[in-house]
Amino acid sequence: MNRAWWKEAVVYQVYWRSFKDSDGDGMGDLRGVMEKLDYIASLGVDVIWLNPCYTSPDVDNGYDISDYYTIMKKAGTMSDLEALITAAHERGLKLILDLVVNHTSDQHAWFKESRSSRTNEKADWYIWQDGVKGTPPNNWRSYFAPSPWAWDETREQYYFHSFASEQPDLNWEHPAVREAVYSMMRWWANKGIDGFRMDVINLIKKRATYDDVADPLDLSYLGNQPGIHELLQEMHREVLAGTDLFTVGEIPFVGPEDGLLYVGEERNELRTLFHFEVADDMETMDLPRFKQIQKRWYEALYPSGIASQFLNNHDHTRQVTRFGSERYRVESAKLLGLMLHTLPGIPYIYQGEEIGMTGIRFSDPESYRDVAFRNQYAERIAAGESPGTVLSSMQLRARDNSRTPMQWNTGKAAGFTIGTPWMAVNPNYREINVEAAEQDPNSVLAFYRKLIDLRKTHPVMVYGIYRDLAIQDPYLYVYERVLDGVTWRVVLNVHDEPVTTTFGLPEEQLILTNYDTADINRLAPYEARLYQYEMP
Ligand code: GLC
Repeated sequence: MNRAWWKEAVVYQVYWRSFKDSDGDGMGDLRGVMEKLDYIASLGVDVIWLNPCYTSPDVDNGYDISDYYTIMKKAGTMSDLEALITAAHERGLKLILDLVVNHTSDQHAWFKESRSSRTNEKADWYIWQDGVKGTPPNNWRSYFAPSPWAWDETREQYYFHSFASEQPDLNWEHPAVREAVYSMMRWWANKGIDGFRMDVINLIKKRATYDDVADPLDLSYLGNQPGIHELLQEMHREVLAGTDLFTVGEIPFVGPEDGLLYVGEERNELRTLFHFEVADDMETMDLPRFKQIQKRWYEALYPSGIASQFLNNHDHTRQVTRFGSERYRVESAKLLGLMLHTLPGIPYIYQGEEIGMTGIRFSDPESYRDVAFRNQYAERIAAGESPGTVLSSMQLRARDNSRTPMQWNTGKAAGFTIGTPWMAVNPNYREINVEAAEQDPNSVLAFYRKLIDLRKTHPVMVYGIYRDLAIQDPYLYVYERVLDGVTWRVVLNVHDEPVTTTFGLPEEQLILTNYDTADINRLAPYEARLYQYEMP
């Protein structure tokens, strides 16, 4: 595999509204990120991914942008962002922004103009269809609503929205739309940012026709459509070619074979991608299936492409809660971290993951702020389901579970704000917080610092070939990475009972473990070991 800085990178995701509040209004902001920049740098990470901070009515927490060239007041000002870029660079950190161009806000000037008549200059910048009010053009669903079609009284037509009705989809068939997006991207690149995390980027190409589908609940008709690669190659030519910009595309509905088409190096599309075979399709840990996913992606991509590794982010509940164990919180947080940093791919850390934060579950539906939750909850209640059933079925996967404020210390609101936090702080902040973790040499935080440091000093973690040694085992995950005669063996007990194993190696070969003692033939619940040996 060709070497490149971005393949060796570790990315830290900052969901700024829940990271640190600098002015006491209860919402995190860019100055708050600045205050904590030394903390981020101290982790050893290379890249910060900042969630959208552009001007937005904030229906979908910034993913509904009304002006790509200005900063949301809640986040701060353009000079705050410029200062953050400079300060990050001074510390050797790169900064990437979210690029949200499948849709805009319905408050964007483009959409306001587009909806003003059927004949204005931007009339075709969005996707409009004739129809009869009350009868949407087809039987599709949107991610956040029962139909992706919303009626507009002025045009007496429907417009298309893959997400909430306040997020109309752009019409990428229109050359002027594409040019507007590319020039905006160039503008940000000139400002000094280091790349883009591209929001649902493979949704930008729509189906050729909007016919009914047999199974509207299978949303795969929304993305990965023929023609997507031509668009991404054009974007590459127009914006990315010849630059060092880092790009990671959020690519739903894609398996490994298609995945290669997005990230194969000779394809000139994206550097790397997030796929959803785990995040969207696996409710809790299903180890045999997880191993198959890793193997298939590795075999399809290596050596010409590289995927990204994540188990949680602002859309997916915290990994300890969903894929590990709250009972073995510290052990499973370390195990999942060790796994993500040693599997093939670029590891992403979602703020708070490095201290083992857990996902909250609110008992009152009103506490959920997320538009996706609210819309889905309302739809199911209206369909006659009981509130208790709906809430309990939605609790584990609710997006707000991972959006509670970062837990800095035991002070008021966990040190996140001196005001009233926009979203409740997880009450376990008294035990789980950065300050406590800094004082404990065995903390999850200390373990993450070691993992990141190992990646810096051991190319085998990045470039080594991957082989699974026990693919059928339901509890043990054992794999090796091999490069230039050096072998790293990872032995994980992804399970809350002890297991016996024949894969242990002598203690001299142990590089990292999450337990004090290592019994060569037995692993404790969620025990994780990393060994190294050299072939003669
Ligand atoms: C992505 C974002 C998510 C957002 C959606 C629509 O999946 O991560 O937060 O709601 O796109 O922009």
